[in-house]
Amino acid sequence: MDNPLREGLIQERVPEPLVLVIFGASGDLTKRKLLPAVYTMTRERLLPAAFAVVGLSRFEWDDDRFRAEARQGCDTFARRRPVDETLWSNFGRSLHYVAGEFDDPEAYERLKARLTEIDARYGIPGNRLFYLSTPPSTFPVIVERLGKAGLVSRQLKPWTRIIVEKPFGRDLGSAQLLNRQLKQFFREMQIYRIDHYLGKETVQNMMALRFSNGIFEPLWNRNHVESVQITAAEAIGVEGRINYFEEAGILRDMVQNHLFQVLCVTGMEPPVAMTADAVRDEKVKLLKALRPIPREKMDEHVVRAQYARGRVLGESVPGYREEPGGNPASTTETYVALKLLIDNWRWGGVPFFLRTAKRMPKRVTEIAVTFKPAPHLMFARNGAPPVPNVLSIRIQPDEGITLHFGSKVPGPSIDIAPVNMEFRYGTSFGSEPPEAYERLILDAMLGDGTLFIRDDETETSWGFISKVHEAWAEQRRKALPGYPAGTWGPPEAEALVKEAGLEWRKP
Ligand SMILES: NC(=O)c1ccc[n+]([C@@H]2O[C@H](COP(=O)([O-])OP(=O)(O)OC[C@H]3O[C@@H](n4cnc5c(N)ncnc54)[C@H](OP(=O)(O)O)[C@@H]3O)[C@@H](O)[C@H]2O)c1
Repeated sequence: MDNPLREGLIQERVPEPLVLVIFGASGDLTKRKLLPAVYTMTRERLLPAAFAVVGLSRFEWDDDRFRAEARQGCDTFARRRPVDETLWSNFGRSLHYVAGEFDDPEAYERLKARLTEIDARYGIPGNRLFYLSTPPSTFPVIVERLGKAGLVSRQLKPWTRIIVEKPFGRDLGSAQLLNRQLKQFFREMQIYRIDHYLGKETVQNMMALRFSNGIFEPLWNRNHVESVQITAAEAIGVEGRINYFEEAGILRDMVQNHLFQVLCVTGMEPPVAMTADAVRDEKVKLLKALRPIPREKMDEHVVRAQYARGRVLGESVPGYREEPGGNPASTTETYVALKLLIDNWRWGGVPFFLRTAKRMPKRVTEIAVTFKPAPHLMFARNGAPPVPNVLSIRIQPDEGITLHFGSKVPGPSIDIAPVNMEFRYGTSFGSEPPEAYERLILDAMLGDGTLFIRDDETETSWGFISKVHEAWAEQRRKALPGYPAGTWGPPEAEALVKEAGLEWRKP
């Protein structure tokens, strides 16, 4: 604290001077998310003065063209718009571009020369953050070429880190292989496997809710919780990504990463500290406690389906097989619901229901924790069921938390009606939560891996998901249930929860 005027002020975390190198600089993610996030971070003074970006992809662009593309991306997608002209004149100048094919060793020599020149110009001591915003098939070649070009250092100072986009593998074997390929050149602490769900304020708020309040944690177990439902519903279909989706399916695309991360923060034990390894140790323990589903009982625990033609938000939409470029015989699932059991002391016997789908009636992601009813119902009339106590945490949209409970209806008789206590991010804090990518890129720059996925975490979740895929592969001839677009899924999924005496929520 050299400056006495700063004494007593909260210290913002500011990264050390660095160069962010984005592979896939001409891609969709770079334009829509990464560069707008970096611009907003600059605007919020979260980045060091000595900072530069180098984009690399195969278009024969120069720096000016890359800057123009970046500007267009920020004008359209940055959270803080309109773009500030004074700020842009500096920020734009810090963007640089190198053209090259990912498998061409010479591209890495050009990148190296450019980085040396930029380090000298900006006074950057060699710190590098590589971002693989590229097709997953190119991850191994980029890592190998970076390593062989001498662009990766295992030292702590200056540091080298790498952010790897999703999907991280497509099954257990490919995830293990990718981990081995990365570790030929990087140490685990240098690898940042991204899952943008963890960058969402509301997902982090689940940890804050559970571990910074005394009232929830004593109830957060099998003695008081009846069931948990996690829903990630999308109203959209495959939106031009049919080729990718046809290969992936929604179990790979959403459950292995996003929904399992949400499951982890909902169900894990309190970590001993908010440090990367303490938090990730607890997440891995939870994933390891998931009860394996015997292959012959897969249909009793996992329901998959595909959307048929229907109406969503008042519009007629085609079925999945009729989407442009779609395969009329496709068996790829666009809906999946799972009943999971966690074999540990906290959760023994409490079912966790997860579901995610495309072409649902609306876009919503929420966690709903349903508590057990009161043991003795003095107010029940005519056999009416008690109002369930549900704590619902909305991750998107309309981020917030609602507690549903029963209250006496005003009047001479004792009638109980459902009411809500509500917290909304927007109204309580007067601002929208920041973009997930802003938080995650900043954390990687700071060397904080808490919100990134560790090697054992990704392998444990793939281990579980791959078993489901293996069971499905054996059932290839079995008909896939359908659900009309704009509905909450197939009847088979209703049976999954009914067996536990429950219903799916209509969030
Ligand atoms: N877009 C999203 O919203 C989103 C969301 C979550 C995760 N992701 C993940 O983020 C990554 C990037 O996605 P994206 O949508 O941005 O993909 P994209 O639009 O296809 O961009 C890929 C980029 O890599 C470049 N590229 C591909 N092969 C190359 C090669 N051999 N040599 C040089 N450049 C090459 C492409 O250049 P060309 O244009 O010349 O092909 C383009 O710049 C993927 O792993 C994806 O799964 C994306």
